[in-house]
Amino acid sequence: MIDYENGTLNAYRTTARAAEYKRYHTKGWTWGRLVTCIEQRAIARELGRYQWSASDQLLDIPCGTGIMGRILHRFPFKIVASDISPEMMAMARAEYPPDRLLACVQADITNTPFPRGSFACVVALGFLHRVPIPIKRAALREIAALSNRLVIVSCSVDTPLQRLKHVLLRRLKRGHIAAPCPMPFKDILSECLSHGLRLNRAFMVIPMLSSHAVFILEKVDLHD
Ligand SMILES: C[S@@+](CC[C@H](N)C(=O)[O-])C[C@H]1O[C@@H](n2cnc3c(N)ncnc32)[C@H](O)[C@@H]1O
Repeated sequence: MIDYENGTLNAYRTTARAAEYKRYHTKGWTWGRLVTCIEQRAIARELGRYQWSASDQLLDIPCGTGIMGRILHRFPFKIVASDISPEMMAMARAEYPPDRLLACVQADITNTPFPRGSFACVVALGFLHRVPIPIKRAALREIAALSNRLVIVSCSVDTPLQRLKHVLLRRLKRGHIAAPCPMPFKDILSECLSHGLRLNRAFMVIPMLSSHAVFILEKVDLHD
């Protein structure tokens, strides 16, 4: 049984949880940090394939503790960071280029206050594999509507190999917790495509070892 409210929606709403999340993904010799570093490098490389200008806005949602912020120093975007958790956002603010961070906005990814089509790029990392299908769909519908060009999402994929990995890790490592709602690769992709997006590229962050996949999607131009 997936407990979206306690497991994700309200799970990051203390300063202690936010600090622990940031530490695991950015400090020391942790698996989370390794995956995060490789994912960041890959996303920076993907963003580098496109032409961006200073008038382009990027939405980082859910921004969490601002892990995406570091790579945005290299690109000209104006940035809006958004999350349901003010405690996570408080730690995110310092990660973005200060002169280009327009706002940190508390919002639910399934129903945001942002104007439709107002972002050249919407990035949603580390969220879809935590939530049940109706929330995945509502989040994808919202971020596809907010973008006028690119959407980047990550999601853990469900494969027999990854399931076996988690069974073994649960035995070897006390407290090991896998992403609660991974999905087969083709199902994540077809969900994305059903919201008016087309696939530009998709890749596994660390093939075989990590279940984390990244999808680079583009808004389908209805005039094409
Ligand atoms: C695993 S973290 C990922 C954060 C960040 N994108 C990253 O890659 O580090 C999940 C984040 O989703 C946020 N969250 C959970 N439910 C949400 C919702 N309905 N709308 C917006 N943010 C939400 C949490 O507060 C948390 O910061």
